[in-house]
Amino acid sequence: MSQSIITIDTLRKSYFMAQQAVEVLKGISFSIERNEYVALMGPSGSGKSTLMNILGCLDSPTGGKYILNGKDVSKMQDNELADVRNIEIGFVFQQFNLLPRLSAAENVALPLVYAGIPKKERLDRAQEALRKVGLDTRSHHKPNELSGGQIQRVAIARAIVNNPSLLLADEPTGNLDTKTSVEVMEIFGKIQEAGNTVVLVTHEEDIAAYAKRVIRLRDGIIEKDMQQAEFLQYAKTKHSVPA
Ligand SMILES: Nc1ncnc2c1ncn2[C@@H]1O[C@H](COP(=O)(O)OP(=O)(O)O)[C@@H](O)[C@H]1O
Ligand SMILES: [Mg+2]
Repeated sequence: MSQSIITIDTLRKSYFMAQQAVEVLKGISFSIERNEYVALMGPSGSGKSTLMNILGCLDSPTGGKYILNGKDVSKMQDNELADVRNIEIGFVFQQFNLLPRLSAAENVALPLVYAGIPKKERLDRAQEALRKVGLDTRSHHKPNELSGGQIQRVAIARAIVNNPSLLLADEPTGNLDTKTSVEVMEIFGKIQEAGNTVVLVTHEEDIAAYAKRVIRLRDGIIEKDMQQAEFLQYAKTKHSVPA
């Protein structure tokens, strides 16, 4: 039986503020198969980052089920969750989060330091990850010697250096201009074509159009779940209607 990489079932998340529960995810269900390339869209405040943080094992749901690569992670404690995260997940953020005093290769190799891998192998694997994002000739550069798009590609290389089963990215093009955003989306496309599963958040339709499937959130529920062709049609029709 083929097994989905992600299955969430009636997933809920509430935040508690001043004794009040605010429900941000209101019962979300979907599956993502291995080697899919999915964009998660939705207006600001619709719960995209909350959902991504749960998918990335950075946070736990308050209800429902999350099965990641066959493991029920919804009931795990923080330390177990950290182990799963280190093995299964590569995460790319809008803020690139590179260490300024380290070279590109050293930044990429960092997750391998925590994994206890010897230095020579770390740098070889970092170099290989940099090659996958087209930056193998920049491995000795520091972040301030790279462009915004190159920095984000280094962050992507760092996210894949561990060979995670799932690559997640929350608004990875949010700080980039259009041309650079397209380059970054093409890199994600290549990574997916090489066999990885990619899930990313964007609120830009032009960017989401690069993904093979688009899931739209609104107010903590799924409004639409579309394959690429349907999404392109939907985006076109929507814009032909005057607002
Ligand atoms: N740690 C938190 N504590 C309380 N409320 C939060 C927290 N994180 C997010 N929220 C609220 O949850 C809602 C969804 O936020 P978020 O998932 O960041 O949305 P998006 O990424 O789609 O913009 C927002 O109303 C936000 O204010
Ligand atoms: Mg967000």
